[in-house]
Order: sequence, then C-alpha cells, then structure tokens
Amino acid sequence: MISQVLRDARKYEETAQKAITREMRRGFHLSPRVGWMNDPNGFSFYNGKYHLFYQYNPYSSHWDTMHWGHAVSSDLLHWEYLPAALAPDTACDRDGCFSGSAITLPDGRQMLIYTGVEKINLSDGSDCVLQRQCLAVGDGVDYEKYGENPVLDESSLPQGSSKYDFRDPKIFARADGSYGCVVGNCDGDRDGRVLLFGSPDGFSWEFERILAENKKRFGKMWECPDFFELNGKQVVIVSPQEMLPQGFEYHNGNGTLCLIGHDDGGKFVEEHNQSVDYGIDFYAPQTVLAPDGRRIMIGWMQNWDTCPANAPNQPWFGQMSLPRELSIKDGRLHQQPVREIESLRKNEVRYENIKFTDVIKLDGIEGRKVDLEILLRPGDMENIYHKFAVRFAQNDKFQTSVSFRPHERVVKIDRKFSGSRRAVIHQRRSLVRTEGGVLKLRIILDLFSAEIFVNDGEHMLTATMYTERAADEISFFADGAVTMDVVKYDLVAEEK
Ligand code: FRU
Repeated sequence: MISQVLRDARKYEETAQKAITREMRRGFHLSPRVGWMNDPNGFSFYNGKYHLFYQYNPYSSHWDTMHWGHAVSSDLLHWEYLPAALAPDTACDRDGCFSGSAITLPDGRQMLIYTGVEKINLSDGSDCVLQRQCLAVGDGVDYEKYGENPVLDESSLPQGSSKYDFRDPKIFARADGSYGCVVGNCDGDRDGRVLLFGSPDGFSWEFERILAENKKRFGKMWECPDFFELNGKQVVIVSPQEMLPQGFEYHNGNGTLCLIGHDDGGKFVEEHNQSVDYGIDFYAPQTVLAPDGRRIMIGWMQNWDTCPANAPNQPWFGQMSLPRELSIKDGRLHQQPVREIESLRKNEVRYENIKFTDVIKLDGIEGRKVDLEILLRPGDMENIYHKFAVRFAQNDKFQTSVSFRPHERVVKIDRKFSGSRRAVIHQRRSLVRTEGGVLKLRIILDLFSAEIFVNDGEHMLTATMYTERAADEISFFADGAVTMDVVKYDLVAEEK
C-alpha cells in the first residue's frame, strides 16, 4: 500500500543519512533525518511513545515539495528516526503534504490530518494553490491515505474565507468522544482567522464557527493554530505572517501569538494576548497533552525570515526547539523545559554570592551543551547596576550574549558574533517583569542554539547560532555591582 513516491523517499533518506555523522548534529534537539525540516506536525503520544512528524524535504536542505518526516521518543530528548510517513502521491496532495496533526482512533489506529496542496491553472491562465484537509490512518509507521480525501475543502468554508489559505488542521478529542479541529485561514484581505470544525468520528467534518479573528491586529494570514485548555483557561496559539511590532510585544515578519481567554457559552472570549517567544528563531509551535496531564509545546527553532542563513551545500537544515511545559500564571503563558531534561544533567558546578563589577570567568563554567541557572541581585542596593551580560559560545572571535538592563527592564539576545554569514536579524529584546535589579535566567545551550527562560519561563527568547564548536567559553559582565548565584550542568544525551 506504500506508493512509489513514498518508497523512493524512504530509500533515499536511509542511504543519504549515512553521510551525516552524529557529530554533525545537535545533541538533544531533533533535526531532520536528511534534507530540510520546518514545522512540527502530528505531535502525539501513541502506543507508549511520543511521535513527532515534521515538514520535510528529504532531497535537499531547502524547502520544496513537502513530505512528513517521522521520529519517536520515550523522553522527548532522545529521538529515533522512523521512515518518512507521508509523501505527495495522491491527486489532492500531489504538490505537498503540508502541516497537520494526529490523534488515536477508538480502534487503536493513529489518524493523521494534514493539508493537501494542489496547484491548478485557472481558465484565465493564472496559477493558484488549493489547500484542503486530508486524512491518513496507520499503525505508527505506515499510513494509508483515506479514499474519500479531501474531508474538508472550499465547500466547508464560511462566507468570506479564502480557499487558497486554508491549512494546518489541529485535531483534538472532545469529552463526548467526538472530535474538534482548528484550521488556519484568512479572509479576502488576508486577515487571519481560526476556523473550528467538528466531527462525530474524525472522518466526516462540519464547520462549527470562527473561533478567533484577527480584525487587523496581528499580522495577516494565521498559520498553524492550536487550541487547548490550560489551568482553567482556553488558549489559542497561532503563527501570523507579516506581523508588525507593537512596543516590545511581537516583532515584524513571521511571529507567534498566544491568546488566553475563556469560553462563554460556545464563544471564545479573549482576555490577554502576548508573543509566545521574544527571540529570533521560533515558529509554528504545536502542543501535545502528555499522559500525565502536562501540556507540552514544541516549535520549529527557525523562522522563515532568518532561513537565508542556510548554506546551500549542507546535508540538512532546521531543528526543533526543546519541548516545553506550559502553564498560565498571573494571566500569562509560562514555559519550562520538559522536566525530563534533568536526567541529562551531569557535572554540577555551583557558585553562590559571587560579587563582581566587571568581566569574570568562573572555573568549570564553560561548554556548548549546558543548562545554566543564574540568579542576579544588585551588589549595592543604593546604586543598582546598569547592565549585566552573560556571554557564551565564546572565544577570541565569537560570542553570543544575553544582557539585562535593570533600569529599562529589558533582556536582550545578541548573536551578531555567532558565525552567521548573513545580515539577518541578530538581536531581539523583551520587556520583562522585574523589581530592584533581581532577575532569574535559565539558559539551555545545545551546540547551535540558545533557549533563554526568563523569570521561571515568564518570557522566552530562542535563537540559533552558527558558531564553530571550539568557541565554548562562558563569561559574565557587569556595569555596576552585581551579586550572582550560578549553577551549571553539562547536558549529556546518550549516544545511540
Ligand atoms: C508554516 C507553514 C504552514 C504550512 C507549511 C508548509 O511554517 O507555512 O502554514 O503548512 O509551513 O511547509
């Protein structure tokens, strides 16, 4: 039942992956088996393992006709590749299997729902791309496309919805055994909206309502929606295209948006909005409900606007973020690295009450795969310091830094000197909640990325780095008197 197109992709990836040694990959972040990776898809827990699929072009390290790559893990950190799950091999997905999600059916099979893309020529000679939602059902390795695909097409859309921007279905189970599904969409002005569909069995679908609408506030088309309950609230996460910055919230280009609200008799009422990540490389996140009740999110640790940093001849490109546990505190989305990461911690080095006013290095604090926890306090309460910075992936030539200016309450990531050969965005700032120069930072480095959890995950800044491995120093800088506690662990993933 496996098509020739999928068989070719599986054969190709199996051979081509041999050219990629373990040393060429990140430590504990998932990268594609070969070729190109973008959005996480079908993030799910099935038959005792986490499954993560991804937008995938095995044949080159650039975006092209989309397949679904596939990996499984027991702990969300050690991933094992499975053969590619979907290939563009039917009439309604012949130009790509775009993003989607997964669910377990009552009979124990796993169902994938994804966007089938078909380019068509219109009678006036112009081209357009139809986007329709399709199904494939399988056993966790092989999936058969549903004979009645597509299950949602333009005839299912409410008035004013574009049939050319209708993608990225995220399915969820409802308490009564039926299913809901949110899909990204926009109107004729490309103004984003999230559509909600319902189904008794996962196979036949009907439009229910427009769940959330942009009303020209956050960018244009809304991609990759997710919708779930968290700490008694309803949460919508989307990735808007063509955003504009609003003060320190959001940034221009492809961004991430979190809407927190409540359900008022079948209507989602917004109470709060914020960026999901204030850094450079984070897009198209998707969540899974873990068996123990945690809501875990993973994102594409890259961004369309910064992809030009991709070198043409590298054998793979793209990586996923660390999976993050979500919660709502004081009305805001908080993110913590999955607690499983604690099992990778080795070689603790701890310092307390280190006072300094200039640049320092601390014995044993270095490395490129590390978990670094910093608690900062002013060294002089009468005269609060002006700036603190921690610099990492550092040597004479390179450094990436996270800095904090307590008087402005701004945390900044700066990767200008991280080896990027392109003048893409290298700095971003976030306005954080802080009093009197006290700040908590947790910095997780994995060779070519930095994920910064500010104040127990109240703000996140994520960035990739391109720095050569030899640059593994870490140093601290203060303008004014700072008192710091710092703990460092090496993060050691088991070799397979
Ligand atoms: C988001 C996205 C999705 C689409 C996929 C195509 O990054 O544009 O909307 O399904 O990528 O690869």
